[in-house]
Amino acid sequence: MPETFAFRFGEFPSNLCFYTSGEDLFAGLDVVSFDQNTFPLFAKYAQPQHRVVWPAGEAHKDLSSIEQLLEVCLSAGLGRDSTLGGAGGGVVTDMAAFAASLYMRGCRLVLIPTTLLAMVDAAVGGKTGVDFGGYKNIVGTFYPANEVRIWTGALKSLSEREYLSGLAEVIKHGLLGANRVWDLVKEQRPAVLARQNSVLDELVREAVLFKARVVEKDLREVGERAFLNLGHTFAHALEAVLNFDGTLSHGEAVAWGMDRALSLGVRLGVTDPQWKDEVHELLTAYGYRLRLDGVLPEEVLGAMKNDKKKKSGTVRFVLQKSRGETLLQPVDDKLVLKTIQEGL
Ligand code: GLY
Repeated sequence: MPETFAFRFGEFPSNLCFYTSGEDLFAGLDVVSFDQNTFPLFAKYAQPQHRVVWPAGEAHKDLSSIEQLLEVCLSAGLGRDSTLGGAGGGVVTDMAAFAASLYMRGCRLVLIPTTLLAMVDAAVGGKTGVDFGGYKNIVGTFYPANEVRIWTGALKSLSEREYLSGLAEVIKHGLLGANRVWDLVKEQRPAVLARQNSVLDELVREAVLFKARVVEKDLREVGERAFLNLGHTFAHALEAVLNFDGTLSHGEAVAWGMDRALSLGVRLGVTDPQWKDEVHELLTAYGYRLRLDGVLPEEVLGAMKNDKKKKSGTVRFVLQKSRGETLLQPVDDKLVLKTIQEGL
């Protein structure tokens, strides 16, 4: 039996289940969505009769993929009490969850995240969606999975780059106040990087539970959940400027963004400079690039403003006084531009 933690996100009960093998991951699923990478990964454990296998990658995170899955649900005769599964990284789990929220106005949902990013972030907490009109995740719903089934064995096949991408979000949870996560990433760096089983299991469990506790208090991001966006205003703008061309992974952009957010806080007199230096050192030790070239600072600021227009509001930056002491604050463009410049 997997170790299970029961949460309630808004009106939705959601169990987080930690598996020690891949054997039972697919039990009870009526239809499963994969992508071309994750279907072969699970060939030994699952050959579901009803399934979709999407092409891998963000380019296919669209409404036509959702339609494809809904068609399979309908032709398989699934009802509201049937269970839709999604096994993959964040693109697959976001889309499977979006489809489940729509099918018969919401059917049962089980997510099986296969990347570190999806385990500690995308699959937990109910944000679903697809890209639309040139914007990422602009169409979607809040629909937490009935179960998230986590098996760290799936992480062994990730490339170094993909693993490090997820690790940036893990480190972010440490910055936000996940104490055990912080201790592990600080003190056990070689074991973390080597994906040593016992350290990896504990790190993932603590990072997942930290996020779940935040979402439990604030599913719809009216308060504390916004802290999970630490570094993301900078990161999303950078990714938009780079046109999501693969130069940087999401986590690499988030690491750069966290370093920028703490520098911005120091400029504002909010962040303890020692804390900023400690985080900079840690991120550098993990190999993240915190100084980039070939990017124009004005373009990064422009991308932030474009994002702000879309959300028709002021950007409030996630800042920190020190570890676990986080706040939201609007900041003058000139200071933001200087901070971007300093990271290039
Ligand atoms: N990825 C941030 C959140 O789920 O709120």
